Amino acid sequence: MAIPSPQPFLAENPIVPVVVLDRVADALPTAKALVAGGIKAAEVTFRTPVAAECIAEMAKYPEITVGAGTVTTPEQARKAVEAGAKFLVSPGFSAKIADVAAELEVPFLPGIADPSDIMATLEYGLDTLKFFPAVPLGGLPLIKAMAAPFPQFKFMPTGGIGPKNIGEWLSEPIIASVGGSWMVTKQMVNNAEFEKITALSQEAMELVKEYRS
Ligand code: 3PG
Repeated sequence: MAIPSPQPFLAENPIVPVVVLDRVADALPTAKALVAGGIKAAEVTFRTPVAAECIAEMAKYPEITVGAGTVTTPEQARKAVEAGAKFLVSPGFSAKIADVAAELEVPFLPGIADPSDIMATLEYGLDTLKFFPAVPLGGLPLIKAMAAPFPQFKFMPTGGIGPKNIGEWLSEPIIASVGGSWMVTKQMVNNAEFEKITALSQEAMELVKEYRS
């Protein structure tokens, strides 16, 4: 089985928030806050023990498409898809996770940080990779230079992106979508600052209108 491309989904969702949830009860209000601000996708990370339950909660809310982030084991990949995740994101590349993504036919965006990482993914026929951590590694100049020998790929950068620098990423054709946590930080969720999440999501979507034609 082939791993499906995430590009049709990412074309509809130029921003994919990276969400860290400590409590299952926050999953639905967080999803609703993002959707109220115009964001219709979320990557719920396996950085907390309740990630799969949170994915299951969000998956019941049809206005948002939920995926799993920080997937570091094939077991987490299976758990995520079972819970309703529609895509998988990892900080690095794992052939074992790619095998699960192929078997379950779910899009997989592994993280890459150098050309060897990109080459490790080649046999899986992927077309979109996560560029992580984007800004600390060298930002747009680095990914543009690194992508040149691999024209088959688009990238989803995460790490260090926010309202001040998102424009340059959105303007670049090799960037499929931009990820980040600035509009939905752990602190905002834990303090139930859902209106702030909506306002920052709205601001992010305004920037999409401005920079992505
Ligand atoms: C990720 O997991 O992709 C990043 O931690 C998100 O990065 P940010 O918090 O700098 O947006």
